[in-house]
Amino acid sequence: MDVELDEIEWLIGPDGLALLAEVTRRRDRDEPELRVLEDLRTRGGDRRRAALLLDAAEARRRARERWPDAERIVLLRSALEQASDPAVAARRARRFVDAAGPVYDLCAGIGGDSLALAEAGVEVVAVDQDAARLRLLEHNARVRGVDVRTRVGDVRQIARPAGSWVHADPGRRQGDRRLRRLGEYQPPVPELLAAHQDAHGVGVVLSPAVDLHDPDLPDGEVEFLQVGQQLTEATVWLGAARDGEALASATLVPHGDRLVRRGPPVPPQLGDPGRYLVSVAPAAVRARLHDDLARQLGARRLSLARSLLTSDDRPPASPWYRTRWIEVILPLRPRVVKAWLRSADELPLEIAVHGLEADPQRWWQELGRPPRGPVGRRLDLVRTESGGMAVLSTAEDRSPGPG
Ligand SMILES: C[S@@+](CC[C@H](N)C(=O)[O-])C[C@H]1O[C@@H](n2cnc3c(N)ncnc32)[C@H](O)[C@@H]1O
Repeated sequence: MDVELDEIEWLIGPDGLALLAEVTRRRDRDEPELRVLEDLRTRGGDRRRAALLLDAAEARRRARERWPDAERIVLLRSALEQASDPAVAARRARRFVDAAGPVYDLCAGIGGDSLALAEAGVEVVAVDQDAARLRLLEHNARVRGVDVRTRVGDVRQIARPAGSWVHADPGRRQGDRRLRRLGEYQPPVPELLAAHQDAHGVGVVLSPAVDLHDPDLPDGEVEFLQVGQQLTEATVWLGAARDGEALASATLVPHGDRLVRRGPPVPPQLGDPGRYLVSVAPAAVRARLHDDLARQLGARRLSLARSLLTSDDRPPASPWYRTRWIEVILPLRPRVVKAWLRSADELPLEIAVHGLEADPQRWWQELGRPPRGPVGRRLDLVRTESGGMAVLSTAEDRSPGPG
């Protein structure tokens, strides 16, 4: 919902905060939204304030998993959906700790990044065109015990000292639509960069699906950040914020393991399936570092079109890939796979499709099995140069012994 500044002032005042805690408790007990809403209104609350409380309560409930102080800070659903993951923001903030003078956090929203920067000891000026969001940011900074200065305005017009550092997180959604091209971001990335050409170091948050051939992507280091197995965000680093001459990098959050590419991607090497199937972490694949890893492991690609690797020897344990033991390679024919499964020991099965048109539902039907979760045996349907193959594999610890 669109919120006015005076409504935020009320929400972060004593009455609003007390009611927010109450509404959150009632929603935690599964009281229907409509009943809570009606009750608030019969107690004299106006319709907009009641809707605002429900929105903030829902945001608080959703934020709990990732924001340890969700019970104390105040968020709104639409702003939370756009906010940076706190662990990613904390990792990104590290690049700014040596910045001289204040860092300008442009498109600061409710402050996912500004708060992380301030907590890393950086002096922050947070800029956004949305005064209500900045008011929430100020409140949350006070709750956290950090200082963040705020300025309402268009980030393309904001004046700042030449040579200062800039962090920017332009909007990447329009309604429900995700904006893919940098020229469509809000504000467009080329306009943002043109207005801040003199910044000493710059980091711009991008979609993890960023097209590396996007004509508006500036020459710099594109970092892909992964939380758990999830590719979460990308950032393009420029000037002093770039890691030397790095072109791309992959970072695992929160522990911070990092791989860096400083030249063109290593050419892929293709080969027959070996004893092991190696799935590389998505951040490393997006940074086009998987063929580098393959070379280090003595592994090769199963297909030029896909990132799956295979090796004869068991690769050492690493956070950068997951290894499975290949039981058998079969043609892409459900009947053949079904016959093989009948002859094998009974294990839950999952299906993964790599670059094929294959419909997993049809495969489940033809195999005569219900879909099952990611434990036990996996059937990878892989597009290859000669058509495709079905790879059956199990978790590494079921393999017959060191390769
Ligand atoms: C992705 S959100 C920022 C999220 C923020 N980094 C966080 O973690 O909470 C994008 C923000 O850009 C702001 N914005 C979009 N266009 C703007 C412009 N031209 N000037 C200032 N702010 C703008 C929106 O109001 C929105 O809050």
